[in-house]
Amino acid sequence: MFVFPDSDFPIQRPRRLRKRKPLRDLVRETHLHLEDLIYPIFIQDGEKVKVEIPSMPGIYRFSPDTVLDEVKQVRDLGIKAIILFGIPSYKDEVGSESWSDKGIIQRTLEIIKKEVPEIFVITDVCFCEYTSHGHCGVVVNGDVDNDATLENLKKQVVSHAEHGADMVAPSGMMDGMVKAIREALDNAGFNHIPIMAYSAKYASAFYGPFRDAAESSPSFGDRRSYQMDIANSREAFKEVYLDILEGADIVMVKPALAYLDIIKMVKDSFPVPVAAYNVSGEYSMVKAAAKMGWLDEKRTMVEVLLSIKRAGADIILTYFAKDIAKLINSGEIENFL
Ligand code: PBG
Repeated sequence: MFVFPDSDFPIQRPRRLRKRKPLRDLVRETHLHLEDLIYPIFIQDGEKVKVEIPSMPGIYRFSPDTVLDEVKQVRDLGIKAIILFGIPSYKDEVGSESWSDKGIIQRTLEIIKKEVPEIFVITDVCFCEYTSHGHCGVVVNGDVDNDATLENLKKQVVSHAEHGADMVAPSGMMDGMVKAIREALDNAGFNHIPIMAYSAKYASAFYGPFRDAAESSPSFGDRRSYQMDIANSREAFKEVYLDILEGADIVMVKPALAYLDIIKMVKDSFPVPVAAYNVSGEYSMVKAAAKMGWLDEKRTMVEVLLSIKRAGADIILTYFAKDIAKLINSGEIENFL
């Protein structure tokens, strides 16, 4: 790129730009903003429930009545968007509670939309929390049946939209799910509701703590027949490309940290906003190491989130959203830059 003049004297001294913080601030390439964040929230059946998830310190399961306080706190911190995960007490073979008018997400949507209408509410659209077997769809002959699952996905998204969801986020990695959902929403009069597709979602070990939180572990087998092979990158291009052709408005890469190369590739290849999911295991690792005194929690969090931004994410779904918002609002983040 550069040809240096024949001299021992370093004309370029990169350290000049690093010497003082005001100049570091001026030349910094990547920043964290409250507007980047989506905060995931778990809701279960019951009343007055607020239980901490053991493997995710600081993250709770709420019942529809207690979640309001949390949502108000999130709003007051300046976070603009949340994504809801429902954990029903009734589960069956197909996950029918997920499209019930009285379902956990449907009831919660109504409460939040009434009391905190300014927050943008996204719903995760999947079946693993709703099925008795914990797989992400209808199981036929020991595997998830793609097209039967699409039929149920349509019912679930339309129900979420009817109860006030601002955006839906299908996470089941079924083929054709975005097209099916787009058509279902359009036919039901919701062509203004965007789809944020979990497009490149890998069969990752980093979902471990989430599955405890959401009671969504498969009771047999694993998810490798529908989630992506952890070794693949070109396949992510294909998945994202297909989802955009099918109508995805925002595409997601998940997990984030072990897949920064995929985030970068997607950002460089496609003209749509890119979301990255800083998943439960990525959160728990930092929390656990900090608890042991092995890592500085705040500095590590800032570095992790900046790395995801630097790779190209426009949006970060993260359990750290409240923590980082507090750091940004108080100005304490300046101590780490
Ligand atoms: C599926 C879903 C999962 C996560 C989000 N949506 C789990 C899975 O695929 O098993 C994981 C999120 C996380 O680990 O934080 N509904």
